[in-house]
Amino acid sequence: MMEAYKEGKIRAIGVSNFYPDRLIDFCQFQKVIPAVNQVETHPFQQQKAAHEFMKKYGVQHESWGPFAEGRKDMFTNPAIKVIGDKYSKSVAQVILRFLIQSDVVVIPKTTHKERMAENLNVFDFSLKEEDMKAIASLDTQESAFFSHYDPATVELITGLS
Ligand SMILES: NC(=O)c1ccc[n+]([C@@H]2O[C@H](COP(=O)([O-])OP(=O)(O)OC[C@H]3O[C@@H](n4cnc5c(N)ncnc54)[C@H](OP(=O)(O)O)[C@@H]3O)[C@@H](O)[C@H]2O)c1
Repeated sequence: MMEAYKEGKIRAIGVSNFYPDRLIDFCQFQKVIPAVNQVETHPFQQQKAAHEFMKKYGVQHESWGPFAEGRKDMFTNPAIKVIGDKYSKSVAQVILRFLIQSDVVVIPKTTHKERMAENLNVFDFSLKEEDMKAIASLDTQESAFFSHYDPATVELITGLS
């Protein structure tokens, strides 16, 4: 990838699921710093500490699973719903706005055209500080999926290819 980058064949290199220990190690020994690092990030797993390390090394934090794929009743969360009602926005829109205002790039996935339009329609409002803080307090600092540090997960994922 770095050879392709140096030859101008690609414009950027991105990594995924590089938590601070791996990311720091990588950045210390590689000549090309990844432009982006995609990690599980949503209101229940905000990755605040990891975010600071990405910032320190100049790597853009990108969220995968910004809605935790709807786990933990994400789309009906009462605290986020109350905030959405104030701005006439959906829970999904508030979540995306929260992440964007937290300097996190979002890549929500949907198979519905109307939801795609809804998810794009988040640039005409700003969450106030008090609402940002209320959503920040929902962080459990735990994955809604699995731990990449669990050997069983590593074997499962590496076995997929
Ligand atoms: N790098 C990695 O390890 C990794 C891991 C997982 C995912 N990803 C990537 O992250 C991206 C998104 O992740 P994801 O699909 O896992 O999770 P996600 O975006 O958190 O959730 C997708 C789910 O939310 C629903 N949804 C989307 N917009 C909605 C809305 N406005 N209202 C209600 N429901 C809505 C979708 O349903 P419908 O489709 O039925 O609308 C789908 O079930 C994808 O590009 C994926 O490839 C990367």
